[in-house]
Amino acid sequence: MRARWLAPAVLALALAAAALAADPVEEFLRRHWARPLAPQGAAPARWTPVEQSLAPEACGTCHPAQLADWRTSLHARTMGPGVAGQLVEMLRSDPESALGCLACHAPLAEQAPLVLEGGAARPNPAHDAALGAHGLACAACHVRGHARFGPPRRAGALERAAPGASLPHGGATRTPAFLRAEFCRSCHQFAPDGLALNGKLLEDTYNEWRSSRFAREGTQCQDCHMPDRRHLWRGIHDAGMVRSGLTIRAATGAPRYRPGQTAVATLSVTSTRVGHAFPTYVVPRVLLRAELVDAAGRAVAGSRREKVIAREVALDLSRELADTRLLPGRSAVLEYRARVPAAGARVRLAVVVEPDAFYTRFFEALLAQGAGRGEAQLRQALAAARRSPYVVFEQELPLT
Ligand code: HEC
Ligand code: HEC
Ligand code: HEC
Ligand code: HEC
Ligand code: HEC
Repeated sequence: MRARWLAPAVLALALAAAALAADPVEEFLRRHWARPLAPQGAAPARWTPVEQSLAPEACGTCHPAQLADWRTSLHARTMGPGVAGQLVEMLRSDPESALGCLACHAPLAEQAPLVLEGGAARPNPAHDAALGAHGLACAACHVRGHARFGPPRRAGALERAAPGASLPHGGATRTPAFLRAEFCRSCHQFAPDGLALNGKLLEDTYNEWRSSRFAREGTQCQDCHMPDRRHLWRGIHDAGMVRSGLTIRAATGAPRYRPGQTAVATLSVTSTRVGHAFPTYVVPRVLLRAELVDAAGRAVAGSRREKVIAREVALDLSRELADTRLLPGRSAVLEYRARVPAAGARVRLAVVVEPDAFYTRFFEALLAQGAGRGEAQLRQALAAARRSPYVVFEQELPLT
């Protein structure tokens, strides 16, 4: 998102993690996610080229299931046109902020075109442009100094008899840190002194989870977002994922009304299995919508009412406009009243998700003010953001 608050936010994340380094998992994560990540250095010379490579396709020759899943995930698109389009100019005008974006969007040292030295930016000798375009590549989560890190073996899996050195890439170091919500915190949570509006951090997902019943019950981010260890990370852009977290009910106040009477209908959305605020970010908007439809199925003009679930902020992130998000367990209810126009009338109740609502306005504003050499990519990102809304629930109930 916007530049000015990011570099301090990333630095503060590292400091907050250091303060927490009490148990071995925290100690591991502090080193694993210390920004900026160190260059991997030279890979062992006896490794084959495919073992030496950091490219996701190389990992995929031996880990095809993870590659196939990851390719469909947003983690594979963290350097999509919306980010890349902003970075073109920013890398020249404000390299420090641009590198701050990469700390979450493409964090490997080899992915950065520039390095900072005493405040001055110079070309990065280790830069690998193809890897940079891959966004959140496998290696960003799994590889440090060319060594592989991963979760403990699955329960019941056979321990290998072979010594580490004879395994591909020398085997792997296994740590429970990969099973914990804290693994995700380094990009999905701002530090306490990061940008806050109305007393609430702009990105607070881990803390929201921590104070929810899911944390108390031991349900980690991975349990919902990586079930069976799959690398899908579905979220607000996926109708099935959104439905899995909600209980949606639609009902009319009475089974039947006569034309001219005032009908009542209710649409309620309860957050039953979302592990944080629904939605967690300031980006999406969710609409509860009710309208009348006539006997021919046409919407009755002027009959539409909507209720918004979102944390809406000003485009320049100067202030919060409204926060109607649902904490776990909470509900939003749209109570709809309308005069029944004629026999055969129905009420249509729908829940609409706009996953990229903030970015639609933001990209429009950037393009209007002139996006320089990033323009073509930002136009592409804006078109994608405009296409992203979808209906996650819809029901028509008879009124007469
Ligand atoms: C030549 C085949 C090959 C390539 C290429 C390869 N791996 Fe592996 N990897 C393996 C094998 C085999 C194991 C199992 C080792 C063991 O049982 O200890 C493994 C284990 C792992 C583990 C531990 C979890 C598990 O499933 O046992 C991780 C994490 C991992 N690899 C990540 C990667 C990443 C990331 C890349 C690319 C940067 C990569 N690997 C490239 C063959 C490969
Ligand atoms: C602390 C980690 C972090 C930093 C630093 C960060 N982002 Fe993001 N960014 C995220 C996360 C998480 C999302 C997904 C949630 C969302 O949509 O807000 C995201 C989403 C986005 C998106 C929308 C998705 C897309 O691909 O179009 C854009 C654009 C974006 N960021 C641009 C930037 C820019 C530009 C910077 C630097 C000025 C930056 N980000 C810095 C974590 C970060
Ligand atoms: C955002 C971080 C992240 C990225 C990117 C990522 N992984 Fe993982 N990976 C994890 C986590 C976390 C786990 C453990 C999940 C769990 O156990 O619930 C895991 C587990 C694994 C395992 C062990 C699977 C098993 O069944 O035991 C392998 C192998 C692996 N990843 C390979 C890859 C490969 C290959 C890629 C790229 C195509 C990749 N990962 C991308 C975080 C990541
Ligand atoms: C290195 C930084 C980083 C780490 C670590 C990371 N993420 Fe992400 N994640 C991102 C960014 C950046 C995006 C935004 C992608 C986009 O929209 O372009 C994202 C997107 C997502 C989304 C999709 C959001 C949507 O809009 O639908 C989910 C879900 C998610 N991450 C979950 C996780 C989980 C769970 C973990 C821990 C296993 C994790 N992430 C670890 C950076 C990270
Ligand atoms: C109990 C299941 C559950 C847990 C635990 C959980 N999530 Fe989610 N998450 C969901 C569901 C369902 C959605 C889709 C609805 C939504 O977007 O809020 C979602 C959406 C998201 C999104 C999409 C962006 C947005 O604005 O909502 C991100 C990013 C995300 N989760 C990250 C995380 C991280 C990081 C953790 C751990 C700190 C986590 N989730 C824990 C169920 C869960």
